[in-house]
Amino acid sequence: MAVYDRALVRLLPAVPKPVVRRIADRYIAGTRLEDACTLVTRLNAQGKLATIDILGEAITSPDEARAIARAYHDVFDGIERNGLDANVSVKLTGLGLELDYDLCHENLEFVVRHAEVSSNFVRIDMEDSSTTDATLALYRQLRAAGLDNVGIVLQAYLRRTLPDIRDLAPLRPNVRLCKGIYVEPEEIAFEDRQAIRAGFMAALTALLDGGSYVGIATHDEFLIDDALRQVAERELAPTEYEFQMLLGVREPLGDELVHAGHRLRIYVPFGEQWYPYSLRRLQENPRIAGYVAADTVGRLTGRGNHRGR
Ligand code: FDA
Repeated sequence: MAVYDRALVRLLPAVPKPVVRRIADRYIAGTRLEDACTLVTRLNAQGKLATIDILGEAITSPDEARAIARAYHDVFDGIERNGLDANVSVKLTGLGLELDYDLCHENLEFVVRHAEVSSNFVRIDMEDSSTTDATLALYRQLRAAGLDNVGIVLQAYLRRTLPDIRDLAPLRPNVRLCKGIYVEPEEIAFEDRQAIRAGFMAALTALLDGGSYVGIATHDEFLIDDALRQVAERELAPTEYEFQMLLGVREPLGDELVHAGHRLRIYVPFGEQWYPYSLRRLQENPRIAGYVAADTVGRLTGRGNHRGR
């Protein structure tokens, strides 16, 4: 990332929200469920699967958390009504994890049981390291209750991830493997780019060796090449793993995977609480300064910033 882009990343929280909203437009389906369903219809037509996420990590009351759990029912109904090939992703903070563990458990189980009725699947996103233990505990609780239509996310940058994979192995968990996005102290997470890549490759090996279905969630060509090598060596069928990417990121690379016969699932977030998610995505965009500049120029010249998909 260039020096001015890095500087801007630090300043992002000071960028006015309307500007963030415009330049983060590409990462979010919209504010309404209909927006997500329309977008997923288009992705499905391109041979891509989706996972739909309701943005809502900034909730402050149990009622808000319950409302998000109920809103997932509408998502499942939308998936069925529109005949979409999609599952859902949930953030446990949105379901009340920071308010009360039991409330979160109740909400999560409510969502997963509803998914079960329509033979659908729920992916529990992984948030910052203060939530890892509780997230894994909730996952285990659901599996112990006989719910198998639920999966977790493991973050390759965490030093604990390989031991976690060992501990979870008897459950043969369905895992999304990603690098990890939250800012963590050095004693908890690798910071060096190569160490994170090494952690990712080792975690993928351990998961595939253990027979897990893995959602390989990265836009990093180096890791995608390694994953392609690993699945080819094991002669896995295309139904035994999938690639995953974020909406609005490296579409041509995703297209290449689809054309080569691999499954690709796109993470499709929607909702009113778009701000924290948008900031995280912009912080990872290597050309962030260019986007902010283009937005400013666009407004000065009267040309809007169009959705860059
Ligand atoms: P890297 O950041 O090195 O990106 C590789 C290349 O992709 C970049 O050089 C750039 O070209 C492009 N790129 C990446 N991000 C971009 C952006 N925002 N805008 C424009 N270009 C971009 N994390 C987490 O902690 N918990 C979670 O639950 C999830 N869930 C999740 C689901 C899915 C489907 C994906 C793909 C990712 C996540 N993540 C996540 C985020 C993940 O941890 C990681 O932060 C991002 O995927 C970026 O890492 P890459 O592996 O893509 O590498």
